[in-house]
Amino acid sequence: MALTSWPPSVVPETRTVVRLPVSAIVALAARGMPVRRATSRPWAVTRSTPNTAPGGGRKRTVARVMCTQLESRGRRKTCAELGITPNGPALPATTNCEIERFHPHVLFELLGLRELVMALPDDDVGRALRLCLSSLLVKFMKAGPTAPRDGAAKRIARGVPSRMLADRAAELARGLAALERRTPPGTPAAQIWEGDARELPIEASSAALVISSPPYAGTYDYAAIHDARFLWLGLSETKFRRMQLGARANQVGDVSGDAWRAQQARFMAEIARVLRPGGRALLVVGDGVVDGRAENAPDGIAAAGAPLGLEPIARASQARPLHDRRLATIFAGQPRREHLLLLEKRAR
Ligand SMILES: C[S@@+](CC[C@H](N)C(=O)[O-])C[C@H]1O[C@@H](n2cnc3c(N)ncnc32)[C@H](O)[C@@H]1O
Repeated sequence: MALTSWPPSVVPETRTVVRLPVSAIVALAARGMPVRRATSRPWAVTRSTPNTAPGGGRKRTVARVMCTQLESRGRRKTCAELGITPNGPALPATTNCEIERFHPHVLFELLGLRELVMALPDDDVGRALRLCLSSLLVKFMKAGPTAPRDGAAKRIARGVPSRMLADRAAELARGLAALERRTPPGTPAAQIWEGDARELPIEASSAALVISSPPYAGTYDYAAIHDARFLWLGLSETKFRRMQLGARANQVGDVSGDAWRAQQARFMAEIARVLRPGGRALLVVGDGVVDGRAENAPDGIAAAGAPLGLEPIARASQARPLHDRRLATIFAGQPRREHLLLLEKRAR
């Protein structure tokens, strides 16, 4: 399949040699790295030290590039097969910084996949593939606040990101097909809007059920969590930062209680507005930290819901491990929990 035979992969000779100069390779890729015919020998990427440097003037191999057969003709053919524009969108200007986040060969493969996926039209298939790509990014990170704990030690073979993208797409297609099979005939098609939880584009008193997981107070910086996605999928970080609720600024708990309660009142009011009398809301919430102190999330939700006619009906809670040292200090031996809360809109 064309997806798996493209893009070129970089095989670093050794990790230490590659560390610094590889940014030069990424810069090459960003400008459209020359892609050669496959040879039995990988193409060496070299870097010369300046004549003036001690022991300078020598060429060093910093990486070896294995290329698939894609000269301009091959590239045009592949693009035609996939129905995409040969010149695709430009890589993000900040690609160089991504070398900190990914192993070089993984970065190259992901960049190639991105080029293919982003060149697809903004239709159902294009959006579904962008969704799949988005879900892969964090999985393959080696460093950074959102990287998996074992990210740096993980060995990722060439071709794994491509295979995983194809697997995710197949899984999504299977899931959607299964959902469609179980949906009774005549059910209206789902409508999806992207927006702000404080201003839902939904008529008042029209919803029977709201299912949501609103932000956890002062625990995460959601924008930082989505950092790579803004860059890779061309999304606006500024817009997201303006609307994100409950986010900590620098460290856990540096959210003021007043600000958080005002924000919470806004999204709770929106839930109450759209629910019809007798309608229910099912919320997953986590205990948070405001003004540097632990906050009991169910109490906060109950207090915000009471004046809106939202009555607590049932809850289930489960303690969560405290990996963050500051969180552990703030909770000081108390469990930090996540809760599933059921509320009902009082019938007037
Ligand atoms: C506790 S998380 C829930 C995550 C969700 N369950 C998921 O799997 O993606 C809260 C989510 O609310 C989002 N969020 C923050 N402010 C928002 C707003 N004003 N409108 C809509 N969503 C917001 C955050 O980006 C975050 O993804």
